[in-house]
Amino acid sequence: MLSPLKNGLANTLSPEALYWLRSVKRAIMSEPPLPWPYGLNEVLKADVTPAADVTPAIAIAAPAFHGSDDGRPIQDIALERYKAKQLPSPASYYGYEDVLILPAKEIAKALTLAVQYINSSHVNGDVAEFGTMGGFSAATLAMSMVFDLQRQPLGKTASGENPFRILRLFDSFEGLPEITSPVDQVAPHVVSGAWAKGGCKVLAAPELRERIGKILPPHRFELYEGWFADTVKTLPAETRFALIHFDGDLYQSTMDALVPLFERGMVSTGAILCFDDWNANRAIPTTGERQAWKELIDMFAIEASSGGDYSVGGTRFIIHSYRGIPADPE
Ligand SMILES: C[S@@+](CC[C@H](N)C(=O)[O-])C[C@H]1O[C@@H](n2cnc3c(N)ncnc32)[C@H](O)[C@@H]1O
Repeated sequence: MLSPLKNGLANTLSPEALYWLRSVKRAIMSEPPLPWPYGLNEVLKADVTPAADVTPAIAIAAPAFHGSDDGRPIQDIALERYKAKQLPSPASYYGYEDVLILPAKEIAKALTLAVQYINSSHVNGDVAEFGTMGGFSAATLAMSMVFDLQRQPLGKTASGENPFRILRLFDSFEGLPEITSPVDQVAPHVVSGAWAKGGCKVLAAPELRERIGKILPPHRFELYEGWFADTVKTLPAETRFALIHFDGDLYQSTMDALVPLFERGMVSTGAILCFDDWNANRAIPTTGERQAWKELIDMFAIEASSGGDYSVGGTRFIIHSYRGIPADPE
């Protein structure tokens, strides 16, 4: 039963104040903190009946102030709990379940942040992935693209143009190509057989379409089935990319995908280029994506800055300029 006092509190205190009241009580009782952003009803249902005039809009309002109710600095409360051994301490930072999943999580994090970067920095263009295989990274990109806050409020233009970014997914759907380039032929992953013709074949195009179609509506993604060298040519001249995730492993595949994109001025100012296999082949600079990137820089006088490494094998660059870069749209 809820006391009249508690019901009265729910009607007079703001949702934020109620949340912090409950939080302090839980802290004193050594209970885990309430989730934030919190559902107001969750906060209230434990102690009090929701007030009739509290709308859900208020329930997701950001907290105005993080502090204790009794006026003490949070540090005092934290040190008190620390001394009383009330703070959790993990037995080990990663359990065995984390060992295999951690690199994939780090990739997902990097790709998600890359999408958020192009949105917050208003980089022009779509998102491309070269090398979709099992659809893990494609699904991650799609999920990150659900929110496109720069564009969503604009709606459709009068001419019916789609204002949302499109996810453009490229793969042979037959696995890796025949390995013909001398650069690839001596690369350790090729010599060991880890990368071979037909390797990395997982999803067929309709399976990937079904998977991504569960995340994005059909007009927001496109599949390009075939060899990169052929499919990139089919892109309309006005195509621009704000984010390119290259995960096609080989030196030759990197060149096949990226040379035409730079040649045709399709990489926008500020675009982020993520290389998944930067550290493959023992990170030997004359192999794979590393060698391709050196050649691309020379071919197109690319000015780029490193966006840092991620996960176990990836790295990213932000493109500032290159020979033939088109002017930014207004
Ligand atoms: C390492 S897998 C990609 C993994 C994928 N990103 C994922 O999350 O599962 C490499 C993919 O690149 C594709 N690929 C490599 N070179 C290609 C080329 N020249 N043309 C088309 N597809 C290519 C292969 O078919 C394969 O699916």
